[in-house]
Amino acid sequence: MRVLFIGDIVGEPGRHAIGELLPKIKKREGIDFTIANAENVAGGSGVTPQLAEEIFDMGVDALTTGDHVWKRREIVDKLRSDNRILRPANYPANVPGSGSAVIKSKSGVEVGIINILGRVFMQPVECPFRVVTEEIDKIKKKTRIIVVDIHAEATSEKIALGWYLDGIVSALIGTHTHVQTADEKILPKGTAFIADAGMTGPFDSVIGRRKEEILTRFITQMPARFEVAEDDIQLHGVIIDVDEKTGRANSIKRVQEKLKADG
Ligand SMILES: [Fe+2]
Ligand SMILES: [Fe+2]
Repeated sequence: MRVLFIGDIVGEPGRHAIGELLPKIKKREGIDFTIANAENVAGGSGVTPQLAEEIFDMGVDALTTGDHVWKRREIVDKLRSDNRILRPANYPANVPGSGSAVIKSKSGVEVGIINILGRVFMQPVECPFRVVTEEIDKIKKKTRIIVVDIHAEATSEKIALGWYLDGIVSALIGTHTHVQTADEKILPKGTAFIADAGMTGPFDSVIGRRKEEILTRFITQMPARFEVAEDDIQLHGVIIDVDEKTGRANSIKRVQEKLKADG
């Protein structure tokens, strides 16, 4: 089966890109299942239940999140009630929601998804290596197809987790930096890997925010309000071809699709 993983969707421009480009990509590439990172969907930070539904209606099957998951508190009930949207698994025990899920594709194939946070240059959380193993144990009886979103800053931590999970999951896909890396590969035991899938949103920006305020902040070190940028909208992600019998990946390829100015 062919799985499309879409990098962090940023604000209204990101949602617009999904609405316009996703149906075309799905058709052209024969996509069976689509996962997207939704931590920046609402005004660039967090995600609301309404906006999550909007993205599901556009054809995304499952949503992961990251360190911005709690920015919009309305999402808490949705995280409890809808297993199609995940929060990172390595938050303290008993926080609302789940860090893993098994979701049926339209053709009836069950896809396991795990969402995990890194710890290097990020807020302290439980060990991603230990917690990801616990989550795999929870879902591996139901499906061999497992896609992990490692939401982390440091490429070293993501690469290390790739070696750790090689042959155990179908794909380990990085998110959070909003910059797509060119290191996509199939690891020796059959796990697809990329350190970061990239961003879906405005690229005439600094990782999705208006560049003017970001520059002011860097230059003056004074606080500034960061607004979502508007121009050069693109959808970034990866397409993974997974062998349904073994759960191993056959291929991974990067996607960078531009929204036409009139689109
Ligand atoms: Fe993000
Ligand atoms: Fe993040």
